[in-house]
Amino acid sequence: MTASNPPAGIGYSCLPGPRDPARRPAQIATMIVSKLPHVGTTIFTRMSQLAAQTGAINLSQGFPDYDGPEALREAVGRHIASGHNQYAPMTGLPALREQVAAKTGALYGRAVDADSEVTITPGATQAIFCAIQALVRPGDEVIVFDPCYDSYEPSVELAGGRCVHLQLQAPAFTLDWTALERALNARTRLIVLNTPHNPSGSLIGRADLDRLAELIRGRDLYLLSDEVYEHLVFDGLAHASVLSHDELYARAFVVSSFGKTYHVTGWKTGYVVAPPALSAELRKVHQYVSFCGVTPLQYALADFMAEHPEHVSELPAFYQAKRDLFCDLLVDSRFVFTPAAGTYFQLVDYSAIRPDLDDVQMAEWLTREHGVAAIPISVFYQSAPSDLRLVRFCFAKREETLREAARRLCAI
Ligand SMILES: Cc1ncc(COP(=O)(O)O)c(C=O)c1O
Repeated sequence: MTASNPPAGIGYSCLPGPRDPARRPAQIATMIVSKLPHVGTTIFTRMSQLAAQTGAINLSQGFPDYDGPEALREAVGRHIASGHNQYAPMTGLPALREQVAAKTGALYGRAVDADSEVTITPGATQAIFCAIQALVRPGDEVIVFDPCYDSYEPSVELAGGRCVHLQLQAPAFTLDWTALERALNARTRLIVLNTPHNPSGSLIGRADLDRLAELIRGRDLYLLSDEVYEHLVFDGLAHASVLSHDELYARAFVVSSFGKTYHVTGWKTGYVVAPPALSAELRKVHQYVSFCGVTPLQYALADFMAEHPEHVSELPAFYQAKRDLFCDLLVDSRFVFTPAAGTYFQLVDYSAIRPDLDDVQMAEWLTREHGVAAIPISVFYQSAPSDLRLVRFCFAKREETLREAARRLCAI
């Protein structure tokens, strides 16, 4: 084998030494057998880069183009200035955990103990990773519903488990109960739910939770409920949280994200609520992945939650106005869509425009030729249906951004 000809699947790198040969250590060739051979640069990074290169409006990655509340941002500065700059407690700042517990009681009717059931993490992604590492053992199966968020599978693989991909049923992206029942077996360790659902914007209802409880009753398996868009539910619908379901909560990790809720995705601060025994296992992992979240951010979030409880109750209307604006503006386009029931994503069918392009090609074409970046949804699948002609736009954008993007999209 030579440096220029490594075997498939094996990375090769040479560490360069100093120019003087006498001082140069023996060349070290590092042979790496990747633990995640299928993982490359994510589509979110690629599309955001392409948007930046081409000057396109970036409706691809899920983040707002506006800032979080001023009082929240000011509070961070205040806490940094007043010396809140050392490690936070491993489980999270007590004041913030208390706020999460109070919110869980007020919104979902569940009295949780802030000390033993709430853990603050550096982002929901880290909470998801820790929950999976805490539970999944080599040989275990984890059921995920495609299209699904991209962090689940690598986390499961690193734990030695295997994802069993079931497909949500398009066009409404509902659960396929027959497939789920068939997939359950003695190796099933975990089921990952995501509601409101990225990328489809669909919701799981209370009746779904009841049906799920019935289906898994008596089985030795757990739930991971990714509810980072818990407050982004529209048209007067209610978010059916696993936190509101006694039987399911008893075996669940429920994850949320302050980044999504307070328009500060770059803060990467989230939390997980789980019964004490599950929280204890998650914390064993969390304390060696990061140990704790960022201290001044936690102080600021605790202050803001205490002072502005109205923020979360105003979120549905705030995002519904954006969804309605974007959808109303697109009515005259050739895209076909049903307004999202939740999240800040809108799927659109482009069959009437370029049926010859697959969705990755379509997203690139939209970005390069029409100046609007989107995300192809096939990347959220293990094996996407070949006739899929859907791309995802993020409408967490200022009115002028949405207007200009829609103007360009309507011109196609
Ligand atoms: C479904 C889903 N889960 C988790 C996350 C990650 O949240 P965080 O930024 O807090 O890690 C995202 C972010 O896009 C998401 O869409």
